[in-house]
Amino acid sequence: MISVGVLGATGAVGQRFVQLLAGHPNFELSVLTASKRSAGKKYRDACSWRLEVPFPEDVGDIIVSDTTVESLKKVDLVFSALPADLAGDVEMQCAKAGIGVCSNASTYRMEPDVPLVVPEVNADHLGMIDLQRDKGTDGFIVTNPNCSTIMLTCSLAPLRRFSFSDLRVATMQAISGAGFEGIPGMAIFDNLIPYIGGEEEKMERETLKIMGTFDGAEVQKAPFSVSACCNRVPVIDG
Ligand SMILES: NC(=O)c1ccc[n+]([C@@H]2O[C@H](COP(=O)([O-])OP(=O)(O)OC[C@H]3O[C@@H](n4cnc5c(N)ncnc54)[C@H](OP(=O)(O)O)[C@@H]3O)[C@@H](O)[C@H]2O)c1
Repeated sequence: MISVGVLGATGAVGQRFVQLLAGHPNFELSVLTASKRSAGKKYRDACSWRLEVPFPEDVGDIIVSDTTVESLKKVDLVFSALPADLAGDVEMQCAKAGIGVCSNASTYRMEPDVPLVVPEVNADHLGMIDLQRDKGTDGFIVTNPNCSTIMLTCSLAPLRRFSFSDLRVATMQAISGAGFEGIPGMAIFDNLIPYIGGEEEKMERETLKIMGTFDGAEVQKAPFSVSACCNRVPVIDG
């Protein structure tokens, strides 16, 4: 069994990680971290479970830890669901301490030696982990993209053999993408919000990295332009 931790385990993404990892045949969920507001509480008391599936009772008694590398000594791998402005330091400290980091946060996505991976599309980019190891990092950081970029690149991957130069994409994105505290009900109910801060820029740059070519030393960005228009719509997921 691989011992794993979830950073930001009480949030929207963290709860999904916990749901997928609880009772997993290969992973043992050992450490759940969150903010100081939650640290010291049982997971069942610290988080307000909002997923459509039942709460995983077998992890409910785990005591939530503060999000520090010291809390993670007994894990081999962490899944990070931290806000991007907080993820940088702790994810890097984990990697330097020999822990593998799989991150949902945007902090390291565009770093030249960090894989930005959609497994069905560019699993070969995981070779970038060797570049991190060459710099003396015992662990590693691997990131996944913005959620709408995952959908886009999965659709584009089968079309790679055709050349295209100019890609225009419009999204209709669920409110879960903004996290639990993200959108006030009064703003989104019966409405469509044609702006998600930073999202269009992320889609445009992350797509070019994921669809790019890794030659063993660096990623050559994909040779097309992307123009994105992102909208928030009043559905829960998707
Ligand atoms: N939601 C999505 O669909 C989605 C998709 C792709 C990527 N992401 C990215 O995933 C990350 C998490 O997003 P989310 O939607 O799950 O956010 P969220 O619901 O707001 O959850 C944030 C998590 O971070 C913890 N946290 C907050 N402040 C902290 C602090 N000072 N120190 C340590 N932990 C702290 C919270 O713990 P407390 O409960 O104790 O406050 C909570 O566990 C973000 O980087 C986001 O951009 C989200």
